[in-house]
Amino acid sequence: MAEKPQIIELPKIGDRRGNLSFIEGAGKHVPFVIRRTYWIYDVPGGEVRGGHAYRENCEFVVALSGSFDVVLHDGRQEYRYHLNRSYYGLYVPRMMWRSMENFSTNSLALVLSSTDYSEADYIRDFEVFRKEVVR
Ligand code: TYD
Repeated sequence: MAEKPQIIELPKIGDRRGNLSFIEGAGKHVPFVIRRTYWIYDVPGGEVRGGHAYRENCEFVVALSGSFDVVLHDGRQEYRYHLNRSYYGLYVPRMMWRSMENFSTNSLALVLSSTDYSEADYIRDFEVFRKEVVR
């Protein structure tokens, strides 16, 4: 049985000087060892990112600023998440077709990854993905 995507609430330390949240990997808040971090920003209105799956890499996505939708497909079912709070993250298991869309102006998507970047890990054709995942 494949793993399910999951919204994870992060710590939020409230303070009159402002809020502070944090993420620790290796099972503390994110169920993997964090190997790489990247962020997506300056997305023009109406653009869609992603449109691929990873064979091994799993991710944790946080809307550090603004909002956007993460649309996932496990080969059978679609899952749609609207991220708009910096103290919630979405865990995306490996072998999930993933797109990101509806970026608000000035949104900032932080992505934590479990593997180094490798183009060989990507599946960029949905039919190839569907055949590999539904076995
Ligand atoms: P890609 O993962 O296809 O972006 P998105 O899923 O947001 O549409 O990556 C876009 C480009 O950036 C692609 O040429 C690969 C490169 N890239 C890296 O070099 N290192 C990385 O860690 C990532 C995520 C992408």
